[in-house]
Amino acid sequence: MLGKRILLIVGGGISAYKIPQLIRSIRAQGASVTPVLTAAGAQFTTPMTLSVLAGEPVHDTLWDRNSEAEIGHIQLSRNADLVVVAPATADMMARIAQGLANDLASTLLLATDKRVLIAPAMNVRMWDHPATRRNLATLRGDGILTVGPDSGDMACGEYGPGRMAEPDAIIAAIRDALTPEAQPLSGRHVIVTSGPTHEPIDPVRYIANRSSGVQGAAIAAALRDLGARVSFVTGPAAVPPPAGVDVIAVETARQMRDAVGAALPADAAVMAAAVADWHVVGASDSKIKKDGSGRPPALDMAENPDILAWISRAEERPALVVGFAAETDDVIANATAKRLRKGCDWIVANDVSPATGIMGGTENAVTLIGEHGAEEWPRMGKDAVAARLADRIAAHLNGKTT
Ligand code: CTP
Repeated sequence: MLGKRILLIVGGGISAYKIPQLIRSIRAQGASVTPVLTAAGAQFTTPMTLSVLAGEPVHDTLWDRNSEAEIGHIQLSRNADLVVVAPATADMMARIAQGLANDLASTLLLATDKRVLIAPAMNVRMWDHPATRRNLATLRGDGILTVGPDSGDMACGEYGPGRMAEPDAIIAAIRDALTPEAQPLSGRHVIVTSGPTHEPIDPVRYIANRSSGVQGAAIAAALRDLGARVSFVTGPAAVPPPAGVDVIAVETARQMRDAVGAALPADAAVMAAAVADWHVVGASDSKIKKDGSGRPPALDMAENPDILAWISRAEERPALVVGFAAETDDVIANATAKRLRKGCDWIVANDVSPATGIMGGTENAVTLIGEHGAEEWPRMGKDAVAARLADRIAAHLNGKTT
């Protein structure tokens, strides 16, 4: 980042309080920051704070006669190496998607010839709204880069995706945006499924499994670190999703299949979820009560769609499909047969017998099975398994291995 110039547009969101920290971190990496403050942004942070930390004046109006004499707004957006919008509100995203130029920030964004990175931040319902989804798709289609949002408690008291990515994640995204060639998976899209699925019996009960989602989250983070855009389709996991990936939260196997389908096309898919094999047919809309007979209710079960087998044979099949095999007996033989049966390229086999402590634990011992046989990896942390798998995926997609 040394010597790079960042034009930082600060929008109107409560997370603008993190921007002074972001400016300090960017400058600590040797880059300079030219701050631009929207009218709404000025409600959450002050021009004085930004200009003191940036060591440069803040730009906040289109109608500055001095700089307009030199076509100021065009100059501002062209002098930068990268334009960053943080926080990017729903309104700001809508205006960029529409190509509006009704204030300095939107005019700069329309006039720039540089890459643009946005860090969305808004209420969870605003983020989930179809209008914001449409705008996001338009922005991505226009080549605009995104970081976050994260999930968690929000200032408005709700919970879910919508929190601005943390300054560290924004810095990592800025670095990647400035050096795309250094990232082996930049420009690639990878779908990762993770966590268990919950299959409802009635509104208060469900069938689930012991998957924590730790391995899937680690894989998504490792792929992100190599520059991939990651669609992270996750069931109700015990760990939060990593920052800087597109989180699509689902509950059931059928929702997971639909979300994976909607995320296509992709260069690769890693199906790390522990998908429930069955769902309850005609799950009750109201709580099932004991009927006094002493007999438990009979649950009618049907098989869930096999997402891995389906994507492996889909018309829009990713170039590389990786499955997992959770086995308790004859691990290699069962996983090898599973690879052929499901039609995926690689399968990551692991022994989930209770004695191994793998399911729900922090370590994993896996065997990678591909066309050319089985390769046993030593027992290591789930992060290390994820990093090694991400490296192999990058090498494969870049044609360095068969
Ligand atoms: N999988 C899937 N959809 C399902 C079931 C499994 O996508 N309905 C995927 C998992 O994400 C994993 C792989 O298939 O990548 C294997 O999962 P596993 O539970 O080991 O296999 P099953 O198909 O459930 O086979 P079995 O229970 O017979 O061992």
